[in-house]
This record gives sequence, structure tokens and C-alpha cells, in this order.
Amino acid sequence: MDRFDVGLLWKLWLISIITVNCNAAIPKESYQSQISVQGLYNASDNVVILNVTNFKSSVYEDTKGWLVEFYNSWCGYCLRFAPVWKEFANDIYAWRDIVVVAVIDCADDDNNPICREYEIMHYPMLKYFSINAHPPSLGLSMEKYDDINELRHSLIDLLEREQQEGRGISWPNIAPYRNYETTNIWKAIPNNVKYVFLLFERTDSHLGAEVILDMHKITILQIRRVLSDNELLCETNKITNFPSLIVLGRNETQTFLKIRIPTREGVFNTMKEFLISKGETIPEQNSIKNHSIKIENHKLSVNTPKQLQATGQIENTEISGDYLYQLDLENALKYSISHEIPLHKMIKDKKMDALKKYLNVLAEYFPLRYGNIFLETTRDIIKKRNNISGEEFSQIIKSIEEEMSPVYSGPSKWIGCKGSKERYRGYPCGLWTMFHMLTVNFAILNKNAEHEPRKILEAMHGYIENFFGCADCAQHFVQMATKNKMFDVSNVNDSILWLWSAHNEVNTRLSDDDTEDPKHKKIQYPAAEHCPNCRYENGTWNEENVLVYLKTKYNYTGINYHDSVKTHKNNGNNSNKLKIRQERLVLNKYTNNKKTGWDFTIFDISICVVLYVASAIILILVCIKFAVKRTYRKRHYVSLLAKCDFYFC
Ligand SMILES: Cc1cc2nc3c(=O)[nH]c(=O)nc-3n(C[C@H](O)[C@H](O)[C@H](O)COP(=O)(O)OP(=O)(O)OC[C@H]3O[C@@H](n4cnc5c(N)ncnc54)[C@H](O)[C@@H]3O)c2cc1C
Ligand SMILES: *[C@@H]1O[C@H](CO)[C@@H](O)[C@H](O)[C@H]1NC(C)=O
Ligand SMILES: *[C@@H]1O[C@H](CO)[C@@H](O)[C@H](O)[C@H]1NC(C)=O
Ligand SMILES: *[C@@H]1O[C@H](CO)[C@@H](O)[C@H](O)[C@H]1NC(C)=O
Ligand SMILES: *[C@@H]1O[C@H](CO)[C@@H](O)[C@H](O)[C@H]1NC(C)=O
Ligand SMILES: *[C@@H]1O[C@H](CO)[C@@H](O)[C@H](O)[C@H]1NC(C)=O
Ligand SMILES: *[C@@H]1O[C@H](CO)[C@@H](O)[C@H](O)[C@H]1NC(C)=O
Ligand SMILES: *[C@@H]1O[C@H](CO)[C@@H](O)[C@H](O)[C@H]1NC(C)=O
Ligand SMILES: *[C@@H]1O[C@H](CO)[C@@H](O)[C@H](O)[C@H]1NC(C)=O
Ligand SMILES: *[C@@H]1O[C@H](CO)[C@@H](O)[C@H](O)[C@H]1NC(C)=O
Repeated sequence: MDRFDVGLLWKLWLISIITVNCNAAIPKESYQSQISVQGLYNASDNVVILNVTNFKSSVYEDTKGWLVEFYNSWCGYCLRFAPVWKEFANDIYAWRDIVVVAVIDCADDDNNPICREYEIMHYPMLKYFSINAHPPSLGLSMEKYDDINELRHSLIDLLEREQQEGRGISWPNIAPYRNYETTNIWKAIPNNVKYVFLLFERTDSHLGAEVILDMHKITILQIRRVLSDNELLCETNKITNFPSLIVLGRNETQTFLKIRIPTREGVFNTMKEFLISKGETIPEQNSIKNHSIKIENHKLSVNTPKQLQATGQIENTEISGDYLYQLDLENALKYSISHEIPLHKMIKDKKMDALKKYLNVLAEYFPLRYGNIFLETTRDIIKKRNNISGEEFSQIIKSIEEEMSPVYSGPSKWIGCKGSKERYRGYPCGLWTMFHMLTVNFAILNKNAEHEPRKILEAMHGYIENFFGCADCAQHFVQMATKNKMFDVSNVNDSILWLWSAHNEVNTRLSDDDTEDPKHKKIQYPAAEHCPNCRYENGTWNEENVLVYLKTKYNYTGINYHDSVKTHKNNGNNSNKLKIRQERLVLNKYTNNKKTGWDFTIFDISICVVLYVASAIILILVCIKFAVKRTYRKRHYVSLLAKCDFYFC
């Protein structure tokens, strides 16, 4: 094995310095700063505030489109809509040289002439003014939605029409590729473009246009959409799944890129990882960073905060309803790989197989916010081994985590899995949540995976049987797997339902048990109030609707980033760190082309030993403190090291 060479360290250091200094922020346009505070919007929002003097000079004869909200600051609907409009403006801030989001307050007497002239009959009213619109155009009305995704989709439909009608020629092309265009793909493409990405998507998808607009400032690449009804292109490229992404380099053959998470952010990350692997630097973008996507399915009605407060369930109104939280997923993962697995003295044979399968599904399907390189690297190292001690595993995790920091997007605390008291919930709740999330997204991404329908279930089974610290839980689970014929499950949807049903069986058993959090009763899930149509009138399950419910809740796109660290601040340290980390990765993975064999120097090992001893002492002290404090005895957990292990003591 090679030694870690000092020259490489220098290169890393140099590159870090260079990337940090070159990370010039895109100058923020400042129409806002000239405008005084008024109405429901002010200078700190990314919307342009128009008034009677500047309205016409802004929206007419401009090279950009203008999307204007005519509102009335006294209208209740407008008050509720304002946060949506602000969020929408943030969401598409990167498109501001293509379309400007603006507002005008019709409650302001001065603006009356404008609101009258534009025939504003109700509030709020959205109007789109095309590029180079001329008076007396009154703009196109656009339907209003309370959901920024729907607003964005309907804006895209408008922009697409603009292009079809011959305006917006200077914009990035958001029209899909047609067959005849491919004869010489590079012919019409400027010389500075090094890569062309083709995003294959369904005809009703807006993903391609979103990504094109999000990334249009990056001049070294061009993105084009190809629709699923373009049989020629789909067949020649052997595309059967949508969305799919391929990249063409000027002198290279095409490469198929795997989109792990089929969302705007996911596609962005896939492209970014590719470009970084080619040694390209990408300017920071400031849209797509800040859209927290909420569950859209209207069937998922949520308790109103008022009801919840009345029953004393919750102080923080944001934590209501049945949501999937990123921090719960991350904390379950972290506890599992940094704590539970390392508790095993020696991992080999059956345990080692289980570990490999588990790491494999994590690397493939766990939605780490900053990319899965951390998990992929871990998997690749373990794959080559046939045994490993828990201690070494722990050291490996620590070094990769440090090398690739930041790995996790927030603090070690539970959100959806937070118990009313410290002893309740936490890790086991997070683990269930994580495996439900994995079965669902595996099914969504592998609709036709006849070959491995039980991939997630088997990985889970192996993990629970071999590593889960609650020994009698594991025993029950393994028995249940046999009894309920887990190994006969033969399609991906059934694997979701199998786990759902198994979990309900556990819920039934634990209902009214001492371990039950009195504030979070074990129910047959999902609750009727969250999914009224999951049960037939006679009370039996409507599994078809349950499946839809589970697929919506545990869908990647439903992840709530509550309390995750705000990422991607334009020049914050986080994005620099991320960049440095990816540069390093490139060096490791591509430039240096080292075997990923892990080579510890004496120095590394001694540091590890010191850290290990120190943390062990701290752990023991804290645990002693807990043990003394806590009179409560937990029946069910036979934890390997100490009772408090389950709760991040
Ligand atoms: C594999 C496994 C086996 C276990 N076996 C035992 C055991 O034998 N004895 C024991 O005392 N404890 C057992 N536990 C722990 C126990 O199931 C709970 O995890 C723990 O009591 C915490 O409960 P909770 O209220 O946080 O909700 P959990 O049951 O942990 O559920 C977590 C979240 O998942 C969602 N959910 C609930 N039910 C379903 C469902 N059917 N389908 C999809 N999503 C659902 C809900 O949003 C819920 O908040 C086991 C845990 C695991 C992971
Ligand atoms: C409209 O806004 C501009 C600043 O953009 C300001 O100078 C002007 O005074 C405003 N007009 C009225 C009538 O408020
Ligand atoms: C804008 O309004 C928000 C509240 O809506 C307020 O917190 C903020 O300070 C205001 N900013 C300015 C510059 O007035
Ligand atoms: C591609 O190949 C041409 C000649 O075949 C060469 O001039 C050009 O520099 C190459 N471009 C890249 C990016 O390698
Ligand atoms: C991100 O979005 C949230 C609401 O969705 C908003 O409160 C916050 O101000 C936004 N942050 C930035 C930097 O735009
Ligand atoms: C672990 O694997 C190595 C080979 O990879 C082998 O030499 C060693 O004996 C194994 N140790 C145990 C305890 O199985
Ligand atoms: C799984 O369910 C989805 C609908 O949620 C359906 O489109 C798909 O065909 C189903 N797959 C299988 C293998 O049954
Ligand atoms: C309940 O109703 C559903 C649909 O109406 C039916 O398929 C099912 O057999 C019924 N179950 C029982 C136990 O009556
Ligand atoms: C996952 O969520 C996205 C966005 O909410 C939605 O478009 C998609 O249909 C969902 N997938 C499934 C299978 O429910
Ligand atoms: C970045 O971190 C350093 C300390 O590590 C701090 O001094 C600096 O203010 C931080 N910069 C930003 C933009 O947060």
C-alpha cells in the first residue's frame, strides 16, 4: 500500500486556498435598495417593489419577463399569500436575469391609476409581462397557487410558450430536443461549452427546465431536455427510466450519470459532482438552495397547531403533522455507524455480510444532504475486507467523516422522533423511519426491479439481526420475518407494505407498554386523521391508498429540513468546506488514482488512540451520571454497553 505522501498534502492545501479565494460571490442586484419600505414587502425580500412612477418603465420594453403580484395590503388572502410569494421569489432568484418577481400595492392610493388600468378585480392577482411587452398590453393572468412548486411549474409553462413564440432567444433553450437536432450536437454550440447534458424526462415533468434555468449562468455547460416520447433518442441511448442524465464531452463518448435523488437539487448535485470530478469549478448559485419542500399531497391533512396545542402535544407549532425529517434520518444513520456497529468487537462471516449489504443500500439510497461520497467511500473500503474489528470500523468512519466534513447537515438532535421525555423514542424511532424511507425510495427509483425486490428488507433484516442493540427487538423481528414470509416478498411495492404491516404489528404489541411515550401513543399507522381514505368503511385497510400515503410521506421530496444548518450561504464557510472536500475527493479518486486501501500512519493511530481513550472516559463518566440519576429501568433494551446508549447520552 502507498503511503500518504506529503506532496499530496501540499497540493490539497494549495487547491483549498485557491478555491477559497476564487469563490467570488455573484453580485446581488439591488433594485430593492432604492425602494422604500411599504405594504407587505420590503427591501429585504427578493421581490421588486413597483409603484405608479416606475411601473410602466419597468415592465415594458425590457429584456426580461416580469411576473407581478397586484395585491392589497388589507386583504386577508394577500397577507397569507405574501410569505409564499417571498419564498417563490427566493426560489427562482437565480433566474432573475430572465424573469423578475415583482409586487405592487393596490391599497396605496397613489397606485390606484395602475391597478385600475390593469383591470385588477380581485386580490391578489398575478400577471406576467413578456419580454419587450408594449403598452397597451395588460399582461397575461397567471393562476395563483399556495404552493411554490406549482407557481414555478406554471411560470415555466409560460416561459416555454414565450420561446415557442420566438421571444427569449437569448435565454437558455428550455424547449426539448427534437430528433433531427442531434445529427451534429456540437455544431450550434459555442466554443466555451465543454459539456452537454441531456436530461431525459417525462412529458409532464418540469425538472429539466428548472435545472436549465438554475444553472444557466454556468458557461462551460449546456443542458437540454429530451422527452420520453422522443423514441429515437431514448432508444439510441437505452433510456428506460425517467429522469435520466447523460453527459457528452467534446472529445469523449457519452457518460451515463446516476441521479440519486430525482429532484432539482438532486440533479444539480449529480452534475456538480461530475464537473468537480473533471476538475471544473462551479460558481455558487443562490437559488435552489433554499426551497424546503413540503408534502404536497392534499390528502395528508394536518392537525391545526391549535388542536395540537390544546391537547398539550406540542409547543413548537412547526413540529406537527406526519413529516419526514432529515435530522431524524441523519441521526439514526450516525448512531448506527458511529456507535452501534463499533460496539462489536469483531465483525466477520455472517455479520460482515450483513454489514456490507447494509452499507451498500445506505450508499445507494440514503439522502445525505451534501452527497453520498462519505457513505460510498465507507462501503468501498469495507467491501474489500472479510473481517474488521469494531474499533477499526470506528476509526475508519471517523477519518472519512473528518476528511469529508461536513457530512451531516445539522446537530445531533431528534425532531420527529423526539420523545416527551429523554428516555422515550429517539434511535429506534429513527431506525424505523430510515428503513421505511429506504423501502419507499428504492421502490420509486426501481419501479421495474424484479431482480432485487427485497434488497432493502434483507439489508434491514441483516442489520437488525446482527447489530441492533435491542436484543429482544431483534429476536422478535427475526421471528416476524419468518412468520410473515418476508423472504417471499416479490415486488418493490410489497416490500413497502411488508414493512408497514410488520411495524404495525410491533405497534400493536407495544401499545400501552411501559416503553410507550404517553405523548406519542402507538397507533395503527397511518392515523385516520392523516389519511382518511387508508381504511375502508368496514375498518379494514385499503392497501392501495396506504401505499400512496407511504410513498408520499417517505418520498425524498417530502423531506423536511427543519433545524438542518442553513446551507450554501454564498460565502459562508460551509460551502467552502464542501468545495474543499470535493476537491480532495477528486484528488483522491481521480488524479491520484490510489487504491482506496486505508493506510494509517503511526501518527494517525496514536491520535485515534488518544481520542478513543478520551471519549471512552467521557462516555463512562456521563453514563455513570445517568445511571445514578435515573431510577427508571427499561425493560426491553438489553443494550451492549450501557442503558443510556440509546439516547446519545
Ligand atoms: C426493527 C425494530 C423492532 C423493534 N421491536 C421492539 C420490540 O420487540 N419491543 C420493544 O419494546 N420495542 C421494539 N422496538 C422499538 C419500538 O418499535 C419503537 O421504535 C420505540 O418504542 C419508539 O417508538 P415511537 O413511538 O418513537 O414510534 P416508532 O414505532 O419507532 O415509529 C417511528 C415512526 O414511524 C412512523 N410509523 C409508525 N408506524 C408505522 C408503520 N406501520 N408504517 C410506517 N411508518 C410508521 C411514525 O411516524 C412513527 O413516529 C423495535 C424497533 C425496531 C426498529
Ligand atoms: C416609486 O418608487 C421610487 C423608487 O423606486 C421612488 O423614487 C418614487 O418616489 C416612488 N413613487 C411614489 C409615488 O411613491
Ligand atoms: C422587512 O420586514 C421584515 C418582517 O416582515 C422585518 O423583519 C425586516 O426587518 C424588514 N426589513 C427592512 C429592511 O425593513
Ligand atoms: C478536442 O479535439 C480537438 C482536435 O481533435 C482538439 O483541437 C481540442 O483541443 C480537443 N479539445 C479538448 C477539450 O480536449
Ligand atoms: C429560506 O426560506 C425560508 C422560508 O422558506 C425563509 O424564511 C428564509 O428567509 C429563506 N432564506 C434565504 C437566505 O433566502
Ligand atoms: C481477518 O482477515 C484476514 C485476511 O483478510 C485474516 O488473515 C485474519 O485471520 C482474519 N481474522 C479473523 C479474526 O478472522
Ligand atoms: C407499484 O405501485 C405503483 C403505484 O404506486 C405502480 O405504478 C407500479 O406499477 C407498482 N409496481 C409493481 C411492481 O407492482
Ligand atoms: C371491507 O370492505 C372492502 C371494500 O369495500 C372489502 O374488499 C373487504 O372484503 C371488506 N372486509 C370485510 C372484513 O368485510
Ligand atoms: C414523490 O414526490 C414528488 C414531489 O412531491 C412527486 O412528484 C412524485 O410523484 C412522488 N412520487 C411518488 C411515487 O409518490
Ligand atoms: C469562517 O470561519 C472563521 C473561523 O474559522 C471565521 O473567523 C470567519 O468569520 C468565518 N466566515 C464566515 C463568512 O462565516
